[in-house]
Amino acid sequence: VSSSVEHTIEFIRETFSSKEFIPLHEPRFYGNEKKYLNEAIDSTYVSSVGPFVDRFENEIAAMAETEFGVAAVNGTAALQVALKLAGVNEGDEVITQALSFVATANSIKYNGAEPIFLDVDLGSMGLSPAAVQAFLEEYGDLREDGTYNKQTSKRIAACVPMHTFGFPADMDALLELCNQWKIPLVEDAAESIGSYYKGRACGSMGMMGVYSFNGNKIITSGGGGAIVTNDGELARRAKHLTTTAKVAHPYEYEHDELGFNFRMPNINAALICAQLEQLEAFIQAKRRLAEKYIEFFGSMDVKFRVEEENTFSNYWLMAVELENRDQRESFLQSTNDAGVMTRPIWKLLYKLPMYSSCFRDEQTNAQYLEDRIVNIPSSVIDYE
Ligand SMILES: Cc1ncc(COP(=O)(O)O)c(C=O)c1O
Repeated sequence: VSSSVEHTIEFIRETFSSKEFIPLHEPRFYGNEKKYLNEAIDSTYVSSVGPFVDRFENEIAAMAETEFGVAAVNGTAALQVALKLAGVNEGDEVITQALSFVATANSIKYNGAEPIFLDVDLGSMGLSPAAVQAFLEEYGDLREDGTYNKQTSKRIAACVPMHTFGFPADMDALLELCNQWKIPLVEDAAESIGSYYKGRACGSMGMMGVYSFNGNKIITSGGGGAIVTNDGELARRAKHLTTTAKVAHPYEYEHDELGFNFRMPNINAALICAQLEQLEAFIQAKRRLAEKYIEFFGSMDVKFRVEEENTFSNYWLMAVELENRDQRESFLQSTNDAGVMTRPIWKLLYKLPMYSSCFRDEQTNAQYLEDRIVNIPSSVIDYE
């Protein structure tokens, strides 16, 4: 093991041309970032309204190939609001995967609902249609107004697949199941901007999709998120709820429901507008890096995770699949000790204290992946 890990460390150092610490994912600012930030500052519109917010909302919709885009302060807030608008209420249940970042489940819980953790597919690492079907066939009670859980009598108010590390989940099968069981599907596309499933943009396929522009993502606004949708009424509601439910008026403080202060500041929007201009080139650079990894790990007989057939991944975070948990630990230890940052995939969410009593199925694939998947340095290099 150790000689192959040494070899890997050497390869990563050479590839990133660095003797220093190599992070997992660094932002890159090669474009109009400073220009747009200066424009925002000079205009004095640095806060919650401004032209960059409007511009970003149009551009993110264009990127996602949806009719509408709504900016938000971060991806978690965007997902929380999207779920609320999908109809998730206190006492409901929401189907999702335990193999995800904690925000996926938190956004469900913030709406007073409980996550139902189902297994993922081994290939995509996204929610498994077979697991969803098995769950619904056993527990689903399809009624006029949606599907209820026979065991708990709770409404199954939404389904949230997540496109892990930018690899698209098996959307056709998930959409068909959700359609059949009248369950709204909201995509957690936080990690998958610029990824495609059978030519359709991740984020654009469900009732709504959500992106994150956190600093560790492929493009960043410092912090930020967005909801995209083809439904004008949902978009209007999303904008209203994220802007304190303020009713337009020249001077009155009129708010017609309990809203949130989930707006993206104009200064962050300036940054993301500049970053969006580079997204395609970033993805191409990442795919070139993935090719290098494919060749290297191929020669080492180590499994490097690649996109599934009929999908296009943005290769946000690249990943290797190690032989077992022990190998995972020694790989993590050696690489991090050597200043090459690597991280394991997330601990399955039902293992966290606030989710320990949630329903979960066997989680065979999710556990297999938790034991083996490690992310390796994935920043954009050789930008063209
Ligand atoms: C799968 C997933 N969902 C949601 C989020 C939340 O996004 P944010 O950090 O912008 O709140 C992230 C990333 O951070 C994520 O990776």
